[in-house]
Amino acid sequence: MSSKFLDIIKKQRKNSKEKKFEGTFLEYLELIQENPSIAKSSHRRLYDAIRKIGVHELADDDPRKRKIFDNESIRVYDYFNSEFFGMESVIQKIMRFLKGAALRGEESRQVLLLMGPVGAGKSALTEHIKSALDGEKYYHLKDDPQRGEPLQLLPRSLRQDFEKMLEVKIEGDISPVARYLLLNEYDGKYENFQIVQSSFSQRGRRGIASVPPMDANSQDVSVLIGSEDISKLDKYSEDDPRVLNLTGAFNVGNRGLVELIEVFKNEIEFLHTIITATQEKRVPAPGKHDMVFFDGVILAHCNESEWNRFKSEHTNEAILDRVVKINVPYVLELDQEVRIYEKILSRSDFSAHIAPHTIKVAAMFSVMSRLKTTQKCDLLTKMKIYNGEEVIEKGRVKKIDINDLREESRDEGMSGISTRFISKAIDHALTDHSKACVTPISVMKSLTKMVKEQIIDNDFREHCLEIIQKVVREEYLKILETEIAKAFITAYEEQAQSLFNTYLDNAEAFTTKAKIRDELTGEERSADEKFMKSIEEVIGITGSARSGFRSDVTAYMFAKMRHGETVDYTSYEPLKEAIEAYLINSVKDMARIVTKSKSRDEDQRKKYTDMVGTLIEEYGYNEDSAEEILRYASNNLWRDS
Ligand SMILES: Nc1ncnc2c1ncn2[C@@H]1O[C@H](COP(=O)(O)OP(=O)(O)OP(=O)(O)O)[C@@H](O)[C@H]1O
Ligand SMILES: [Mg+2]
Repeated sequence: MSSKFLDIIKKQRKNSKEKKFEGTFLEYLELIQENPSIAKSSHRRLYDAIRKIGVHELADDDPRKRKIFDNESIRVYDYFNSEFFGMESVIQKIMRFLKGAALRGEESRQVLLLMGPVGAGKSALTEHIKSALDGEKYYHLKDDPQRGEPLQLLPRSLRQDFEKMLEVKIEGDISPVARYLLLNEYDGKYENFQIVQSSFSQRGRRGIASVPPMDANSQDVSVLIGSEDISKLDKYSEDDPRVLNLTGAFNVGNRGLVELIEVFKNEIEFLHTIITATQEKRVPAPGKHDMVFFDGVILAHCNESEWNRFKSEHTNEAILDRVVKINVPYVLELDQEVRIYEKILSRSDFSAHIAPHTIKVAAMFSVMSRLKTTQKCDLLTKMKIYNGEEVIEKGRVKKIDINDLREESRDEGMSGISTRFISKAIDHALTDHSKACVTPISVMKSLTKMVKEQIIDNDFREHCLEIIQKVVREEYLKILETEIAKAFITAYEEQAQSLFNTYLDNAEAFTTKAKIRDELTGEERSADEKFMKSIEEVIGITGSARSGFRSDVTAYMFAKMRHGETVDYTSYEPLKEAIEAYLINSVKDMARIVTKSKSRDEDQRKKYTDMVGTLIEEYGYNEDSAEEILRYASNNLWRDS
């Protein structure tokens, strides 16, 4: 057995040791001649590392492009795609920053600051960006704690020529430690300087550094710029580079990235290094040493209150001027919010059964808690429009423009319920429940409890409770009623489709004033007014609105068919609603059978068992969750039946 493990270990070691370059600066120059991109700037390296995984534009026929992004072209970066949802615009902004910086624009001398509410994904995003560098190879001066770019060995007088010959840009100077090595070990013959290859590694502190926020007492600038080794101060003079311990974040992160976690939790003095690091691309060295060159992406994050506090101090202007702020708001698109929790759950060890609509119910709550109210429609409608859904009112798609809604409430998504709050509520429901399952009902309960316990602001708490107990609850009951009806009605899809066909035939005949030929008898008759009315009235279309609805349906369907699309009962949202409502109304005995558990007769019992079977086999419930939602439905949906 043990040999199997040893084999794996040896193989890995062999692979990781393969072909690591080590040679003189002269040999390095040959390498560059072959491939100038070796000597990339840090921003370029990061930009390329993310891009090379894949970039594509959101396809024209992607419904999100039209409905969410107003047909603007949206670049999607595959590197983020499977981890981050509904964040396309934020990611696009980050990539635009990196691109500008890669082209050595002003962005290359700026801090990238992600600002957003708690749990909006700032840390996760930063972590992911850092990982893009992890494992990337780069060349640097041997034994240089700054891992400096070897081209910096070239004296200024030669740089122009070399830049032309090699098609590279040469910036900055070698570190004091490297300079010492050059003079003492290589006799100043820089062509002999040893160059080695390394890979970026956050854990190995190579090219990627993180600075956690520090309180005023323990805050020490050596975390950023390194320190002097006191024990060596006896041996060497103060200005001898051998006393330098260049282990600060700006030393480690040279050539790569420095992350400043919750940056404005630090005292302002601590951050002064940022000013020179960005503008001059140099940071102070500890003690009496020259400044050292720094080329790296500086990525910081913070929340809104810290940002506002920082911004209000006019003495902070120098730093503010060097910051490009990108807002990272919460997701306001329901389907994308759902995907976040699916991701989080898939990574946890919970194995409990999760009933259909559970996560959606939780996500509806979080999204609505983040929306600003509007005169144009209620919160639920706004949520649906933001999700690219069509909202139907009186047989028509409600005409509310998503851009008008957005325009009216800028900065939406910067407050409300956080992803972490929802994850915790789902976890609680998972662990609280006596049965090994979670349902929308147990999640609503757990959300209610957490809101009551944890939200301090009175108004917001009431607002949240209203969303859960009224808006979400009612919407869920609607979803539930439809689902139970679907499970109850045998061959639901076929029935719906047949109603659709009949309606369409009649509506067409009505609109074009034509006759319908009966397939069985071959007789001709005019449109069946009674049948059409029965469908229309369930969604409140009456009187003169009818003929409009009929011609709308006909026109819509024929336009689709002309484009070669197949149509079915779900094609036109208003008609779909009408057909579903009609079918649900048609099963009068459903409510009785579900509610009156004790008095079911043989036939009813069979219908009930069949329905439960369908819920389990086709809709993804298990015995426990099916039982729970049916009990809930009978207590809440058909009280008076
Ligand atoms: N849009 C999103 N797509 C995917 N996952 C997300 C998204 N938003 C948040 N998350 C997830 O939510 C969790 C919390 O996010 P994270 O810790 O990054 O938030 P944060 O903005 O750093 O919050 P804080 O200010 O509290 O530090 C993470 O698991 C993250 O992956
Ligand atoms: Mg964070």
